[in-house]
Amino acid sequence: MTSRTTRTQVVIVGAGPAGLLLGELLRKVGIDAVILEQRSADYVLGRIRAGVLEQGTVQVLEHAGVAARLHAEGLTHEGVEIGFHGHRHRIALRELIGKTVTVYGQTEMTRDLMEARNASGAHSIYEAEDVTLHDWRGTTPRVTYRHLGVTHEISCDFIAGCDGFHGVCRRSIPADQMQTFERIYPFGWLGVLSDVPPPWKELIYANSARGFALASMRSPTRVRCYVQCGLDERVEDWSDARFWDEFRLRMGEEIADRTMPAPSIEKSIAPLRSFVVEPLRFGRLFLAGDAAHIVPPTGAKGLNLAVSDVFYLHEALRDYYREQRDEPLDRYTSRCLRRVWKAERFSWWMTRLLHLFPGDAFSRRIQQTELEYLFDSRFAQSSMAENYVGLPLDYEAHEARAHVA
Ligand code: APR
Ligand code: PHB
Repeated sequence: MTSRTTRTQVVIVGAGPAGLLLGELLRKVGIDAVILEQRSADYVLGRIRAGVLEQGTVQVLEHAGVAARLHAEGLTHEGVEIGFHGHRHRIALRELIGKTVTVYGQTEMTRDLMEARNASGAHSIYEAEDVTLHDWRGTTPRVTYRHLGVTHEISCDFIAGCDGFHGVCRRSIPADQMQTFERIYPFGWLGVLSDVPPPWKELIYANSARGFALASMRSPTRVRCYVQCGLDERVEDWSDARFWDEFRLRMGEEIADRTMPAPSIEKSIAPLRSFVVEPLRFGRLFLAGDAAHIVPPTGAKGLNLAVSDVFYLHEALRDYYREQRDEPLDRYTSRCLRRVWKAERFSWWMTRLLHLFPGDAFSRRIQQTELEYLFDSRFAQSSMAENYVGLPLDYEAHEARAHVA
């Protein structure tokens, strides 16, 4: 087995949305990066994930030059609905807060990023095995991996850990050097993708006595729907017919009447989790996206947080190379975490508001009251809308403006 050594400025571990977008943003500011991904490109593109983009996310994708198809095919949504006791209540995002969200599958965004990277000739290695980090505490980190039976070593200035929740980067850090915060929820989401035109105009998040359900979409011809399920349930036990029966019961009569039980093209169960690691910088290693934090999908924040993390990271690296100072790198953790924790709070709040929890009568009354307060109060709706469309990416500029005003 031969061994080959190369050099780059940044090694990015993981070719999910965080890693691929970071690669594009760095390329724009003239920083070289190599992406190492353990899976094949087709496997990465086969994963079905969320699909609601905040306005700030769309702006970052525009900035990275990968928003042409998103603008052509993405669906602009000016509101979302909350279902409760068979009625639907609209949260008028644009009217309340002057912003909208864009429905565009994470898979499509990943495809656009992969195509941009291929077109630029930048270096990505798929099916990289045994990715291992070395010397990230010092100034000359290295990453080794195996590809097609050959061992490779890349020396670099920085390592970006964009390798998701189960990746190698966070696992490389000794436990006593970080603090983790976690909440596991006592249920999961069973999701189905089907090729039928969505019979709803906007997303519907439904709280029902049988458990939560979500009516979403990917395009004018494709729906994505979920029902809350037990953690011990198996996909094989959920026929398409059983899924749609349950979904219709939870959505209420009007939506049930309009919903055609279409064959699924994908069906999977995902557990719900809140998780944050602190800090996000360890010497020359930085964590971003799902490697650093997980939110339950209820607030549609996971992908948007990955985008803001890598936006901040590319700025920090850009400023480091321009100014040869560590200070921009030092601020990475606090810049990200301010936004991360707000999204964690919102995702936890929406999860608690909408799901059926094993709990006492008092908790159920509080949940019901919180929903009623939301439906009755324009202030509560504005607060939800402000968080759902996404808090500003640039708190510092935002706060500076507020200060001057
Ligand atoms: N070596 C190389 N690559 C790895 C390794 C490893 N040891 N471990 C994991 N990876 C790869 C995974 O195969 C995956 O392609 O890292 C990538 C991480 O991608 P994601 O899990 O998609 O995480 P991220 O890019 O942070 O995306 C943010 O937003 O909607 C949410 O959770 C959703 O994935 C989404 C996330
Ligand atoms: C989805 O379409 O997959 C989706 C939409 C909104 C969410 C979560 C998932 O909050």
